[in-house]
Amino acid sequence: MTHADANGSRTALVVVAHHRTDSLTAHIARRTTRQLEAAGYRIDLLDLHAEGFDPRMTVADQPDWNDREKVYSPEVEDHMRRILNADIVVAAFPIYWAAPPALLKGWIDRVWNYGFAYGRSKPRLAGKRMLWLGLAGAAEDDAIIAFIQTALEGQLNMGIAYYCGFSHSQVGILPDAEERPQRLDAEGKLHIGEAVMGAEREAQYTALERRAADLVEEFLTVDRVPA
Ligand SMILES: Cc1cc2nc3c(=O)[nH]c(=O)nc-3n(C[C@H](O)[C@H](O)[C@H](O)COP(=O)(O)O)c2cc1C
Repeated sequence: MTHADANGSRTALVVVAHHRTDSLTAHIARRTTRQLEAAGYRIDLLDLHAEGFDPRMTVADQPDWNDREKVYSPEVEDHMRRILNADIVVAAFPIYWAAPPALLKGWIDRVWNYGFAYGRSKPRLAGKRMLWLGLAGAAEDDAIIAFIQTALEGQLNMGIAYYCGFSHSQVGILPDAEERPQRLDAEGKLHIGEAVMGAEREAQYTALERRAADLVEEFLTVDRVPA
């Protein structure tokens, strides 16, 4: 189901999970937002840190397995409405320990709740599409990137999005997100290189931005293929 408004535009919920507005994550989220707008989406920008979202589970938002009609806290109910109003959800986040950061994980824990996101024969989120854009400090040719891709696809696509009835979910990893290149050697020792500067840094940014734009474009192409 889509929520095209009078102008025929659909809604993208862009979720930013970072504590700094000058982060690369926030930068990529801003560019992604512009790209989605250019593709005709109305944007609902959810900056979890700026909105003061607390990722810690609360008693009010803990599922009650005996009551799938439970009314959760007003804050969480409001977040649920924002997800329901979205056709697509795009999350931008830094990868911490081969996983989403606590801020994003806690949003899913508290908001993607029993009776809302799962636990119904007809899922309320059915048909929505999701893009996960994760920035990684590891270099592109580091073997850990393939591991992270597989781990995130299992966790985010299978464990969360498809479990909640999404029709499509895609994980895009943006490596080389650190100005000091990081690499694990065969013995598992971490090497942190010299800071990349000047033209080399510019090229690194450009490659990261291009990769993000390509991932969003690919995601939107799926969107255009009739079901
Ligand atoms: C707690 C923590 C854990 C991290 N774990 C990983 C990791 O498992 N793999 C990786 O490639 N980078 C890891 N990083 C590096 C971050 O992904 C990187 O700092 C971030 O993507 C840079 O983008 P930002 O400027 O938006 O923060 C970690 C960073 C922190 C602070």
